[in-house]
Amino acid sequence: LNKGGFNPAPDTDYGRESNLVKARQALTIVNNQLGKTYLPLINGEYVETDEYIHSVNPSTPSQIVGKIGLISLSQADQAMETAKEAFKTWSKTSATQRAEILRRAADIMEQKRHELTAWMCFEVGKILKEGDPEVSEAIDFCRYYASEMERLEQGYNYDVAGENDRYFYQPKGIALIISPWNFPFAIATGMTVAALVAGNCALLKPAATSTVIGAKIAEILTEAGIPKGVFQYIPGKGSVVGDYLVKHPDIHLIAFTGSREVGCKIYADAAILQPKQKHLKKVIAEMGGKNAIIIDESADLDQGVAGVVQSAFGFSGQKCSACSRVIVLNTVYDAFVERLTEAVKSLNVGDAKNPSTKIGPVIDASAQARILQYIEKGKEQGTLAIQVEAPEQGYFVPPTVFTDVTEDAVIAQEEIFGPVLAVIKANSFDHALAIANGTDYALTGGLYSRTPAHIDRAYKEFEVGNLYINRGITGAIVARQPFGGFKLSGVGSKAGGPDYLLQFLEPRVVTENI
Ligand code: SER
Repeated sequence: LNKGGFNPAPDTDYGRESNLVKARQALTIVNNQLGKTYLPLINGEYVETDEYIHSVNPSTPSQIVGKIGLISLSQADQAMETAKEAFKTWSKTSATQRAEILRRAADIMEQKRHELTAWMCFEVGKILKEGDPEVSEAIDFCRYYASEMERLEQGYNYDVAGENDRYFYQPKGIALIISPWNFPFAIATGMTVAALVAGNCALLKPAATSTVIGAKIAEILTEAGIPKGVFQYIPGKGSVVGDYLVKHPDIHLIAFTGSREVGCKIYADAAILQPKQKHLKKVIAEMGGKNAIIIDESADLDQGVAGVVQSAFGFSGQKCSACSRVIVLNTVYDAFVERLTEAVKSLNVGDAKNPSTKIGPVIDASAQARILQYIEKGKEQGTLAIQVEAPEQGYFVPPTVFTDVTEDAVIAQEEIFGPVLAVIKANSFDHALAIANGTDYALTGGLYSRTPAHIDRAYKEFEVGNLYINRGITGAIVARQPFGGFKLSGVGSKAGGPDYLLQFLEPRVVTENI
């Protein structure tokens, strides 16, 4: 087995008063900066736009976090042309030079850690304890991909007598990064810096609801010394600019994280050869999950309840890794449900910046409406076991647990992306595994068990990209739990893992007869 060796950045210990003081100061600093205007960064310049949107605080939607200029199609073309020009030089820089920029970016992120966490709290409603690990993850992506690229730059030497055979990598070209709002800092940073360190030029189009955090990434990369045109920040409408650039003949690769619907459309659109296009596009699509945790009869129920609650309700269930089904063996079903409902009762829902808040809002009004509809559906198909109080103002959804849900019910099959948990009863461990595997997805999964034979079977038969045994199923750490799924969860790539950068590179072999 290969050994790891990468040291992830530690998260903030909020048990220390000095850290709490820094966190509170950062919230005040950011609060004083709300409502500013952020412009796209094209060819190293912040450019004016015709169209603007507001990004609001989902805890208090009347509060404008920032006004963001959206690029037009002609500005998209300018960004493309600039990127193509910049690629000529950037593609020839050494991996070490590129890696240095990522390492500087990581250091800047560490300096700005509390502020970045505060921005996430205001812009997407993430409590500090959930936002801080995201800063750590972004730092880890920068440092890990920096060293990964230095490793890959060595290539392979397959020389034999009389012949040199060299295997090496070159960048692909222009990368379009379409990033999600739920991990607005870590995932956007990870996909972007992977493209950059591999020698590609990157265009970052963040989700509309997290554009200010996207602008923070642009500021950090600029400060770290990324050359103009190599990285460009291009907020714009997905249905207009995103669609246009996905179909652009000069785009080489698209790194996308988001919904299954959009991911599948990008995959299909990118497959169509456009006039003058001379390559096939690479699509790295990471999509949803309908993740299950199995609780067997030998499980430590207290541990299981804590893991399920955190995995299902952390960040209001808005993680592709979140647990939305818990499959419980019939012999422990009643005991588990009783403890689960007790635990859920104590979840405090409220404004993300309040220190007592455990569960913040959901991202926007349409997410709120969609999740509430699923809750209505759940009432028809299951038993409402518990629903916690949530504030009326703001985009809040009450954390909700349904019991006696059948495995084929809508809330047991469709990704809800909200704080809704379905509890399903299984007759045997075989049955539990069959239920767990019975969706279109294969992202994360969990098992609470003290039975070695069950753990052994889960290793082999639980069809997910990331399986967690006797712990929660969210919060993957770079180079420790490389993250990503298969089936309709994604293309099988692993962010923060040893194969990730290969997707951003073109392998070549040169054979020389000597
Ligand atoms: N990597 C995140 C997690 O593990 C999801 O994107 O929770």
